[in-house]
Amino acid sequence: MEHKKLRSYEWFGKDDKMGFVHRSWLRNQGYPDDYFRGRPVIGICNTWSELTPCNGHLRDFAEIVKRGVIEAGGFPLEFPVTSLGETIMKPSTMLFRNLAAMDTEESIRANPLDGIVLLTGCDKTTPSTVMGACSVDLPTIVVPGGPMLNGRFRGECVGSGSFNWLIKEKRAVEQYTDEDVLEMEIGVARSAGHCMTMGTASTMACMVESLGLTLPGAAAIPAVDSRKKVMAQLSGRRIVEMVKEDLKLSKILTRQAFENAIKVNAAVGGSTNFIIHLTAIARRIGVELDLADFDQLGSQIPLLVNLKPSGKYLMEDFYYAGGLPVVINEMKAHLHNDAITVNGKSIGDNNASVPNYNEDVITPLSSPLKEAAGIAVLKGNLCEDGAIIKPSAATPELMQHTGPAVVFENIEDYHARIDDEDLDIDENSVIVLKCVGPVGYPGMPEVGNVDLPEKLLKKGVKDMVRISDGRMSGTAAGTVVLHVSPESAIGGTLALVKSGDLIELDVPNRKLQLLVSDEELAERRKLWTPPPAQADRGYVKMYIDHVDQAHLGADLDFLKGGSGSKVSRDLH
Ligand code: FES
Repeated sequence: MEHKKLRSYEWFGKDDKMGFVHRSWLRNQGYPDDYFRGRPVIGICNTWSELTPCNGHLRDFAEIVKRGVIEAGGFPLEFPVTSLGETIMKPSTMLFRNLAAMDTEESIRANPLDGIVLLTGCDKTTPSTVMGACSVDLPTIVVPGGPMLNGRFRGECVGSGSFNWLIKEKRAVEQYTDEDVLEMEIGVARSAGHCMTMGTASTMACMVESLGLTLPGAAAIPAVDSRKKVMAQLSGRRIVEMVKEDLKLSKILTRQAFENAIKVNAAVGGSTNFIIHLTAIARRIGVELDLADFDQLGSQIPLLVNLKPSGKYLMEDFYYAGGLPVVINEMKAHLHNDAITVNGKSIGDNNASVPNYNEDVITPLSSPLKEAAGIAVLKGNLCEDGAIIKPSAATPELMQHTGPAVVFENIEDYHARIDDEDLDIDENSVIVLKCVGPVGYPGMPEVGNVDLPEKLLKKGVKDMVRISDGRMSGTAAGTVVLHVSPESAIGGTLALVKSGDLIELDVPNRKLQLLVSDEELAERRKLWTPPPAQADRGYVKMYIDHVDQAHLGADLDFLKGGSGSKVSRDLH
């Protein structure tokens, strides 16, 4: 490729003082001179970290990607970005998603890179890096790190992320001992990779594949399968070609691609977190997408994939059944099949004529697992800007339910009182949890699926309506209304709910209503005062001051859009 056409020429191509500086220091790693003379420079953006267990294998994967880049005539340079370990970071990785996206964006723009490979895995590492890359808009390919092998416990398959939501119930109802739980703890995470349910990480992998940002079939391959390594190497080869073709993110991430992703997400029973991340990505790349689109495009799509938490299998089974290409092929009547993908071919061509090896894992469109299973968007006086619920993971009998609120003012209040024997609560109550939104927590953690009171679990109650301005883990299930917007901490109506108020949830009619008169709410609003701010300095202060509400993707308001890849000033 003609050197002057490469972005990296601005660093390495000149024979002046700055060309000397840019090349000379890099030579200390032993690169031959031809690496600086017209090879596309490929940045391998690595979210590897020992503090992100799901991405612990990506250090090795980077070497495999490099192999492919070099084979295709490119010059690979790996760089780290902020990694977000879902099960480790407090108070929530979501608080830091936008920080990681800023890190990714600035790391790409500031460096001599022509194309980008995003190595991702755990929940937030995919959306954060894609968001950052969108704001620069270079040719970019995603290599999802892949799920763990199926968890195993006493002869049964168990899903990581799903069992932990049941521990309280297992102990209370099935008398699980500490030893039982320890055995499960070990057996559920037995290989490299991310959660192997259709939780958020698997959802994000399916999201990038259905957007056209991965090579076909990449999402479902287990992390430890040799074919994952082949996928990484082929992605390394392909990104070099993408640079030559100038196949930038904005050429792939069209409105059609987003519509495809919404429909495929419904068909796979993807996480509710999909909405907030896809919205944030769309706003970075300049595609119009709002909350109503998710309902209009996705809610009538049938569920085809029989994976936990909506079904019974796990990602390893999904891969053996044929993976996402089978779903995309089944869904072709619903999709924009001519949407272009990273390999330069359309999503329709990539996924035509793929066999389904197990119709119990991936059901045909003609006999789906569930009809109309996509995420529903609710409106009403309790959520003027919207709220969401995942019907496929909820209890059908609770889809239309009116009950008295039992209000918890914040997560500490919930923990202090939920198992109080005197708490006035039964299975008809509606649990309301405040102050777990973007500003209130801060960082909108996955606490929306709070455990039920022990006394009700012991009675055999399995599910109750729960409402909050927080999120829910993609591995969780229940009749859980999430992402209430505007949130309680900034004075949304949720802040005004009192215990005993009646709340009406009507999913078929997309309604969430606090049955309190406007006059009474106006009186309560006059007396309302915001909770104390959770930080007065640093990134968290910046986050609180600038985070958008959930229905806008919870990005920082000043990060919408992009600044392109140009850097006009040199370092001297
Ligand atoms: Fe990383 Fe579930 S904790 S994907």
